[in-house]
Amino acid sequence: MKFVQVVSLFAAAATLSSAHPERMTPYNTRCKATSPRELSNRFRPCPAKRAASLRRRQIANGRVPQRRSDSGFSKCDELQYTTIQDDTCLLAPDAVWGPYAIDGEIYRHDVRESQEGVELYLDIGVIDVETCEPLPNAYLTIWHCNSTGSYSGFTGIAPNTAELIDGWIKNSDGTTDEEKFLRGITSTDTEGMAEFLTIFPGHYVTRSTHIHLTVQTNHIGQLFFDESLIKSVYALSPYAAHLATLNRTTNAEDSLYATANGNGYSAVISVSNLGDAVADGLVGYITVGVNSSAAGLTTSGGSMNPIGIIPTVSVADSVRAQATAVDAADGYSS
Ligand SMILES: *[C@@H]1O[C@H](CO)[C@@H](O)[C@H](O)[C@H]1NC(C)=O
Ligand SMILES: *[C@@H]1O[C@H](CO)[C@@H](O)[C@H](O)[C@H]1NC(C)=O
Ligand SMILES: *[C@@H]1O[C@H](CO)[C@@H](O)[C@H](O)[C@H]1NC(C)=O
Repeated sequence: MKFVQVVSLFAAAATLSSAHPERMTPYNTRCKATSPRELSNRFRPCPAKRAASLRRRQIANGRVPQRRSDSGFSKCDELQYTTIQDDTCLLAPDAVWGPYAIDGEIYRHDVRESQEGVELYLDIGVIDVETCEPLPNAYLTIWHCNSTGSYSGFTGIAPNTAELIDGWIKNSDGTTDEEKFLRGITSTDTEGMAEFLTIFPGHYVTRSTHIHLTVQTNHIGQLFFDESLIKSVYALSPYAAHLATLNRTTNAEDSLYATANGNGYSAVISVSNLGDAVADGLVGYITVGVNSSAAGLTTSGGSMNPIGIIPTVSVADSVRAQATAVDAADGYSS
């Protein structure tokens, strides 16, 4: 086991005492007062810088694509996030916690650890729907499965069946292990922006490809990807091998996709290539609207998940320090 459980300094920060998000239409009057152009200028990330950082890491890891020179990376202004328009200022209805939520995540940007897959910079802008202003200091937690469908903390659960794998033991809180890969918590800056560095998620039984997200203290959601992008990524290793053993649930077949994207809401991440090809890495962007003055989400009970509690993990100081060092190597400051 990679990680030791001790006390997490961030357990308190990761505790959800949530508020109830309100539904909004894309044409909410308050948000409409902010023009799409203004919003897209405000929220547009600069992928050029990130491409350079990813490139450095790929070189360091000996994984740099041979056919491309440094100048092959996209320039910032070549990338447009066209969905940051009227759709920006809306809040997808609450999704479910699902069985794989964990409380007390590591505070970090880079959640990849040693997981193989297409690298994905995930930029999340948070706006307060009451004011349509960026929401600073909002804690964001993400968690998602690895490229072959396993969640950290639940690696004893078979992705193709959701059943416990022979020889594994499930703890009373539902977890099977102390892995923490592809999970993390960070907070938005003064511009309401936060960034994670992760890999494109894989798939598991009955669900389409998604990333779980909470905004503390008042939103829980699931973020999705375009079908065509999923197909491009899943043509690559190690995703392709998993497709051979488990057919993918498409967005259209997914039980939560329609709700998350109905009524003019959008929970689909806008994604651009960092280089010439999907395999070179991706940058995704989504804006999440939250109502910071509304009431809390429940964090226990049968309506939340099958176990009725969110397992709380603790993380050794040394593990947290290691995550901070990885972030620093990527150019992130906490
Ligand atoms: C995903 O995680 C599971 C459980 O730890 C592991 O068996 C599998 O090899 C991982 N997938 C890849 C591609 O590393
Ligand atoms: C996936 O679906 C196709 C078409 O229905 C079927 O032929 C194939 O056996 C399925 N593969 C798996 C791994 O279930
Ligand atoms: C935010 O939540 C408060 C309290 O529930 C509610 O009165 C208000 O209308 C909500 N604001 C928006 C923009 O939905």
